[in-house]
Amino acid sequence: MEILSSLDDLAKVVRELKRANKSIGVVPTMGALHEGHLSLVRQSLVQSDETIVTIFVNPSQFAPSEDLDRYPQSLEADIAGLQSAGVQYVFAPSREEVYPENYSTSVVPPLVARRWEGEFRPTHFAGVATVVLKLLNMTRADRVFLGQKDFQQARVIEQMVADLNVATEVCICPIVRADDGLALSSRNVYLSSEQRTIALSLNQTLDHVERQIQAGQRDGFEVITEMRQMLIDAGVERIDYATVAHPKTLETADPIELPVVALIAAYVGETRLIDNRLLE
Ligand code: PAJ
Repeated sequence: MEILSSLDDLAKVVRELKRANKSIGVVPTMGALHEGHLSLVRQSLVQSDETIVTIFVNPSQFAPSEDLDRYPQSLEADIAGLQSAGVQYVFAPSREEVYPENYSTSVVPPLVARRWEGEFRPTHFAGVATVVLKLLNMTRADRVFLGQKDFQQARVIEQMVADLNVATEVCICPIVRADDGLALSSRNVYLSSEQRTIALSLNQTLDHVERQIQAGQRDGFEVITEMRQMLIDAGVERIDYATVAHPKTLETADPIELPVVALIAAYVGETRLIDNRLLE
C-alpha cells in the first residue's frame, strides 16, 4: 500500500494509472474510519481497477463553533483497516497541501444545498463541494463513492458533478448501521451509553415513518409532527430538523408521494447526529 501526502506524489500515481488505462475509484473521507466507510471502499474495489481513499479533515466545511479541533482522528488504525481491505492508495494531505496560502476560489453549491443542513450549517456545503471537487480533480476519479448516510451531501455532490460537467460517476451506497440500529458515524464515539440509547430514537423514528407511509399515510404535516414528538419523548434535546422531503429536490413532501426521504438532524447531548430513510 502507498500512503501519499503530497500532490506531486499523487499526480505521479494518477498519471501512471491513467497511462495503464486503469479506472480510478475514489472514496473521500475525514478518517476515523468505521464499517460505513469500509463499505464504500469495498464497493469501489469491486467497481474500479484501482481505489484511492482520501483522508482529510476539511476545515472549510466546519463552522467556527463546530468540532474541527476535536474531530476524532485515528490515522494508524485507518491505514491498517484500509490495508486489510486491500486498498492500494491512501491520499492523506496536509491542510497546506489542499489550501495553500494564496488559495481563494470556492464552489457555490447547488440549490439542493439550501434547506435542512444548509439552514443550520450555512457554510457547510460550500466547503464540502469545494473540497470534493478538488479531490476529484486531483485524483481524476472515474467514480466517487459516497454514503447515503449523508443524504443531502450526496445530492449536493451529484448535482454539482452534473452542473459542472465533472467527468466522474457518482455512486451512492447504503447506510451501514450498528446491530442496535444506530447509523455508524465517526461522531458516535462522543456518546455516553445513556446517550447512545437516546440516539437510537433516530432510527426508531425512521422505522415508524416507514410503517406509517407504507400503511398509506400521506399527510406530511402529521408525519413530521409525530417524528418530532417521538424524538422529544425519547430524550433528544434539540432537533435541527425532522422532515419528509422529495429525494431529488429536497423540498418538503406534503402531501407525501413516493419516492420520499425522511431526514433527521438532532442533538443528543452536545453531539449532532443525522440519519435518513429513503422510501421508494
Ligand atoms: P466522512 O464523514 O468521513 O464520511 C465519508 C463518507 O462515508 C461519506 O460519503 C459518508 O456519507 C460515508 N458514511 C459515513 N457514515 C456512513 C454509514 N454509516 N454508512 C454508509 N456510509 C457512511 O462526509 C464526509 O466525511 C466529508 O464531508 C467528505 C465527503 C469527505 C468531504 O470532506
